[in-house]
Amino acid sequence: MVKLNGDIMRGLYIHIPFCKHICSYCDFPKRIAINDNQINEYIDYIIEDIDNYKKYFPSIKTIYIGGGTPNFLSDYNLERLLKKIDSLNLSPLEYTIECNPEFLCKKQAELFIKYGVNRVSLGVESFIDSDLKFLNRHHTKADVIEAIKILKDNNLNNINIDLIFAHPNDTLDKVKECLDEFLKLNIPHISYYNMILEQKTIFSNLISQGKIKLLDNDTEANMYELIINTLKEKGYHHYETSNFALPGFESIHNQIYWDSMEYIGIGAGASGYLDDIRYTFDSRLKHYYLNQKQLDRISKEEKKKEYFLLGFRKIDGVSINEYKRRFNSSPLDDFNFQSLLEKNLIYIENDRIKLTQKGIMLTNEVFIEFV
Ligand SMILES: C[S@@+](CC[C@H](N)C(=O)[O-])C[C@H]1O[C@@H](n2cnc3c(N)ncnc32)[C@H](O)[C@@H]1O
Ligand code: SF4
Repeated sequence: MVKLNGDIMRGLYIHIPFCKHICSYCDFPKRIAINDNQINEYIDYIIEDIDNYKKYFPSIKTIYIGGGTPNFLSDYNLERLLKKIDSLNLSPLEYTIECNPEFLCKKQAELFIKYGVNRVSLGVESFIDSDLKFLNRHHTKADVIEAIKILKDNNLNNINIDLIFAHPNDTLDKVKECLDEFLKLNIPHISYYNMILEQKTIFSNLISQGKIKLLDNDTEANMYELIINTLKEKGYHHYETSNFALPGFESIHNQIYWDSMEYIGIGAGASGYLDDIRYTFDSRLKHYYLNQKQLDRISKEEKKKEYFLLGFRKIDGVSINEYKRRFNSSPLDDFNFQSLLEKNLIYIENDRIKLTQKGIMLTNEVFIEFV
């Protein structure tokens, strides 16, 4: 059991799988709702399901409502959900909701404040309107600026922006433009994701038809380097592969995943990790309502590997002493780090094993050693 300052710490993730439209790159569990009743029914089930995790409530330190598009919910459903969470009296350190800019409005911001949401993660993806269309996003740069104004006017200043780089239409100049636009907004956190080509997405179809193609590795690496250098220069702490924060604004909830700590996952397609079992609910609504999920017991050996696979996403690496505390053995005995050290992909500094600059650029080469 992982503890923080002596307390057991868990996260609570609630998944809202509804979207108004489907983005070209996305393979997250999501769907276009058939009608309002379908969404009402889903929220009914979520509200009911939350109580099944009562015994874990005292340990919950972070809440994350993600999607899909949580702020695609009507005010009625959003308030029902937030009110239910509020009734649990959890006092989380961090309470995030994911939002798409085009739906964000004053009423939503007021509901967030009323029910204790203290962090908003906005799916911006690009500040270039033609690229937003290409990604099949239905907002514009102007919508993003308006959404941020609404949040700040309501004292919701702990904001994250998601951007995606290296999509098939991307260029180094466009990444620079997006960074410039981001920096104008005075936002404390950014998740800048390298686009992953997922199967069965609009992009994977277009690629197999030869209509678009992926960028080459060197261009992607140059973009990533530009992002890291620009954000660092402006005072952002590069604390995880894709995440940058002004000091003090690092996400606590995501830290739970990277530290291989436990979390409750609720909702169709949501995953959780409790009592050594990782579970993933069926993403089909009716199957979720019947509590159908895949269960995987994580063995001690798998946990050791995950400690590195997840932990190496953190730029300050993993703690040797914490590993010893959890597993009663030394990572230096359990794994052979020699080839990673020789290839200059990792280094050891005091208690921590960290990726080198080269390792950060070539994380897949590091991860292969643990798979
Ligand atoms: C699943 S979305 C949910 C949030 C919200 N629906 C939205 O789109 O703004 C969370 C984030 O994951 C990132 N993402 C989704 N698919 C991705 C992919 N194939 N490659 C890289 N990032 C991706 C996007 O940046 C997106 O904002
Ligand atoms: S990226 Fe967000 S809005 Fe787009 S389909 Fe995926 S979950 Fe829905």
